[in-house]
Amino acid sequence: MSYDRIEVRPLAGSLGAEIRGVDVRRMDNQTWSEVHQAFLEFRVIAIRDQQLQPDDIMSVSRRFGEPNFYPFVTGMEGYPYIFEIVKEPQETRNFGGGWHSDTTYLAQPPLATVLYALETPAKGGDTLYCNTAAAYDALSDTMKDMLGRLKGVNSAGLKHSGGRASHHKVIGGMKIQGTEQADTYEAIHPIVRTCPDTGRKALYVSRAHTIRFDGMTEDESRPLIEWLQQHQIRPEFTCRVQWEPGTLTVWDNRCTQHSAINDYNGQRRRMQRITVGPQIPA
Ligand SMILES: [Fe+2]
Repeated sequence: MSYDRIEVRPLAGSLGAEIRGVDVRRMDNQTWSEVHQAFLEFRVIAIRDQQLQPDDIMSVSRRFGEPNFYPFVTGMEGYPYIFEIVKEPQETRNFGGGWHSDTTYLAQPPLATVLYALETPAKGGDTLYCNTAAAYDALSDTMKDMLGRLKGVNSAGLKHSGGRASHHKVIGGMKIQGTEQADTYEAIHPIVRTCPDTGRKALYVSRAHTIRFDGMTEDESRPLIEWLQQHQIRPEFTCRVQWEPGTLTVWDNRCTQHSAINDYNGQRRRMQRITVGPQIPA
């Protein structure tokens, strides 16, 4: 794929690209088609130097899909689908740490997450991504066959990292809601899903959200889920986005996972996020 209207620079061998030379508020059809192509090709695109108001975030996000509702953080005044991710200097825990794909515990999880940086630490606060399609491709045929027959039970309870309630207690800078309902969000999705846009298969399983394989006990499931998590985040499947104020990153939740690095205590970081494109994983 060639790019004529936008400047595309890969961030790593497996996934991720930085995009310059575009104002997402004003994209003609050709420019949007190149941005969308870059999204599908690189899975994570960090579009630099944007100046966006919440209305702009809504309109660029809608190009990727209809807004998804996030159950656990209250939306911004007038923008129920956008919420702020804030870590204050005195806080020590962050939001989004630990590898996962977003809200896999919903019946129709969002195909993309759009995250816009407003305030970034002088250093640190990067986000890591991994390519779960490349991780799938690297498996043996026998493992692929077996996983292709399995479904995963995904829960919002954060059972294996201390529970959602304890997580919510320590992210004080954010408008948390719905903690009590966390355990009621549960969805069963295939462990291997196929992207309807590219036809490529990808792993759709995480230590954070997948509590067991459907039809198996948690004890039976855990070792393989743990192994798959470690496999997916092998360094050669990853890239890293370094944020600057004005960076708008869009990632494909169908074939990536991400983890927000918590290495900037004492500094403030503030982002705005929306998830879009509800889709039944298949
Ligand atoms: Fe996330």
